[in-house]
Amino acid sequence: MISHAIEVLRAGGLVAFPTETVYGLGADAANPSALRRLFEVKGRPVDHPVIVHVARAAQLDELGRDVPDVAHVLAGAFWPGPLTLVVRRRADRVAAEATGGRDTVGIRVPDHPHALALLDAFGGGIAAPSANRFGRVSPTTAQHVRDDLDGDVDVIIDGGPCVVGVESTIVDVTGAEPVVLRVGGIGEDHLAELVGTRLRRLTTGEIAAPGTLAAHYAPDARVELVRVDQVDARAESLRAQGLAVGVLDAPADVGEYARLLYQRLRELDGRGVDVILAVPPPPPADRQGIGAAVADRLRRAAAAR
Ligand code: TXA
Ligand code: MG
Repeated sequence: MISHAIEVLRAGGLVAFPTETVYGLGADAANPSALRRLFEVKGRPVDHPVIVHVARAAQLDELGRDVPDVAHVLAGAFWPGPLTLVVRRRADRVAAEATGGRDTVGIRVPDHPHALALLDAFGGGIAAPSANRFGRVSPTTAQHVRDDLDGDVDVIIDGGPCVVGVESTIVDVTGAEPVVLRVGGIGEDHLAELVGTRLRRLTTGEIAAPGTLAAHYAPDARVELVRVDQVDARAESLRAQGLAVGVLDAPADVGEYARLLYQRLRELDGRGVDVILAVPPPPPADRQGIGAAVADRLRRAAAAR
């Protein structure tokens, strides 16, 4: 399987592969025509950068340049794992097509045996956005990838359900201080422990980070966020209007919530509900660790389209 996938990547094809966060849709990060096909299949605007995956932390300096110490510290602590570091790009190793023409690149080492075997055998960087159509719910099983992209992907490597379930935390280390561009699998509290201070989080007003659009990660059904004590009344009132309602309850454990979030949104869509009532993690869990990522994705799924 891996050797066939490597041939496909070298020939400019697309390989979907599992990571600990979500499934990625991979292409050779140094091959402009493969990257153009990747954006086409995904339906993604060409100025919207993708993350480049590598096998080892040492490759941070092979694909990036002027990498600051704080990046090495974070990579040393969290790789392999759900952290993406945005650094300056080496133009000869990462094609401009991967980064929407920017002179920076997001890099990460994923924590999944199949992904690491693929990256190790490939040697270079594999550019991979989440393996869903643009703006939709990310895939956390190989079947989700088939549901979305079958026919347009050359190989799908099945590594079972993703254990983290939400995308990586993205930290931009190209400026005077590191900035969190997207909350995700690594909690901001864990980053702060390492860096010694809480990192600034980019807020929606200053979005320079493409892909952190307000409406994103969205199922077909309309998503409404409700408190747990409001679910029954709201469901009843929607049903009285003739709408089919699905309820996404909050598992008490936020890690479990993250792991199941996208799968449950997809299941409810599959049942054809009109409205999904979702109960976000209650405070303070919505601001800590992976709970912040769950709360963030639910907000975006609920944002008006
Ligand atoms: O967990 C993940 O990060 C998954 C798995 C497959 O690794 N990947 C993923 O990729 O979520 P994608 O393309 O769906 O989201 C990547 C986001 C972009 O939307 C963009 O906001 C940010 O990463 N990004 C990538 N490169 C960037 C750069 N050079 N500057 C700023 N933001 C960047
Ligand atoms: Mg995505």
